[in-house]
Parts: sequence; C-alpha cells; structure tokens
Amino acid sequence: MNIAIIGYGKMGKSIEKIAKVRNHKISFFSNKSPCPILLKKSDVAIEFSRPDSAFKNIKICIENHIPIVCGTTGWIEKLHLVKDLCEKNNGTFLYSSNFSIGMNIFHEINHKLSKLLSPYSINYEVKIEEIHHKEKLDKPSGTALVLAKSVLNNQMKKTWTLDPNKKKDKILIVSKRIENIPGIHIVTYQSKMESIEMQHKAHNRDVFAIGAIIAAEWIKDKKGIFSMKEVLGI
Ligand SMILES: NC(=O)c1ccc[n+]([C@@H]2O[C@H](COP(=O)([O-])OP(=O)(O)OC[C@H]3O[C@@H](n4cnc5c(N)ncnc54)[C@H](OP(=O)(O)O)[C@@H]3O)[C@@H](O)[C@H]2O)c1
Repeated sequence: MNIAIIGYGKMGKSIEKIAKVRNHKISFFSNKSPCPILLKKSDVAIEFSRPDSAFKNIKICIENHIPIVCGTTGWIEKLHLVKDLCEKNNGTFLYSSNFSIGMNIFHEINHKLSKLLSPYSINYEVKIEEIHHKEKLDKPSGTALVLAKSVLNNQMKKTWTLDPNKKKDKILIVSKRIENIPGIHIVTYQSKMESIEMQHKAHNRDVFAIGAIIAAEWIKDKKGIFSMKEVLGI
C-alpha cells in the first residue's frame, strides 16, 4: 500500500517507521497541506497534524478521492462538515481520538461500567484524569472527552467540568501536562464506600501509529465514515 503521511511530526515519524516494517511504501510526507498531484500516487493518507490544519487536509483528501485516516485532535466540532463532504464525494474517512487498540477496548469497558452504575449515579462521583506531554495543544484530550461522552450517554451525569469547585453532579476532568508522557487516562467512579479505578497508559507513540496503520489497511477499499469500533469489530 502507498501511504501519504500528512503531518510529519512525532506521530508522522512513528507511522513511517511502522509502515515500513509492515511492507508499505511512503508515497510522500508533508508538513503542509498535501498537493493533489502527489496525493494521486497514494492508496491512503494518514493525517496527524495540528488542530487548525486537520479539516483542510481532510477536505483535500476527500475531494481527491483518497481514503483518509485522521488522528489529529482538537478539531472535532467540524466533524459534521466532514460527513457532508464524504457524502457529496462518495469519500472514505476514519477518525479516532486514540488509535491504541487497548484504549478502544477500554472505551467499551467504560461504557458498560457507566451503564451498570447509572441507576446508582447519585452515590458516585466520576473523575477522568488525563496526563500528556507538554506540547499537546488541546486540553482536555480528545480521549477524555470520548470517555466523558459514554458517562453522559448513560445519563450518569449531565455534563463535565474542569473546575474542581463546581464538580457536584458533574464529571470532573483533570488535565495535567508533564514532560515526555505519551498518554495516561484514569477513570474513577467513587462513592463514600468504594471506588472503581481504570487506567490506560500508552508506553510510547508506536501504539497509536500501529493502530492508525491497521485502520488504513482496513479502510483502503471501503466507502463511508468509520471508527475504530468497526475496524476492531467491537
Ligand atoms: N489519535 C491518536 O491516537 C493520537 C495520538 C497521538 C497524537 N495525536 C494527535 O495528533 C496530532 C499530532 O501529534 P504529534 O505528536 O505528531 O504533533 P507534532 O509532533 O507537533 O507534529 C505535528 C506536525 O504537523 C505539521 N503541520 C503543521 N501544519 C501542517 C499542515 N497544514 N499540514 C500538515 N502538517 C502540518 C507540523 O509541522 P511544523 O512543525 O513545521 O509546523 C508538525 O510536524 C495532535 O493533534 C495530537 O493530539 C493523536
């Protein structure tokens, strides 16, 4: 498979390394919006750039009929526009705020747990703590927001907050930025009598890169909008 790497930073470099191990070729890599002529030589594009450039890059790929896997976080308010673009162009798009296979399974467990606890929600405080390296631009992390969404969908709480003084009846999200941490997420459900705590820790960026490449291999010949749920069959 010929892969275009859009955004050749920490993630782009990890994707290049793992793609080669899996016998893929890199058609080009770029730290700018991709040129449509170069894109035509690619079977699929993998995009890990910046929140303010992701949408434009996705649009270029979809309009040029190149399936795209996107891992950039912090732009998700434009997802509805991507859906429209995909429909109009019969395009192919897959987004995940976290490509780690373990984290995608963690989401399923969190969903189930919040559903089971939801009848007793009044007794439980819910806290999501996320810790990342200092260069991460978005806060809270896209993954923390997906974890919170499960709790909200199961009506355990009505909203989330970053303010520990206003956490009553809300999910408290705590974001920390510490040197060299690829990603830690801890979800805690705590009553006066017990706590349930789940933690996911990414040891390095390769865990996201391999997930993104598996997703790219999976969507290459498909049409539509997908998530890691479909890729992993969960
Ligand atoms: N979904 C996941 O599993 C996952 C995992 C890890 C990270 N992420 C997210 O992925 C994104 C990138 O992370 P990273 O750690 O690789 O960041 P990074 O090291 O800062 O790399 C971002 C790269 O994008 C380039 N860039 C800037 N403008 C661009 C444009 N218009 N088009 C294409 N590339 C452009 C930057 O180039 P310059 O330096 O020249 O500006 C830089 O090389 C972030 O949003 C991060 O939160 C997601």
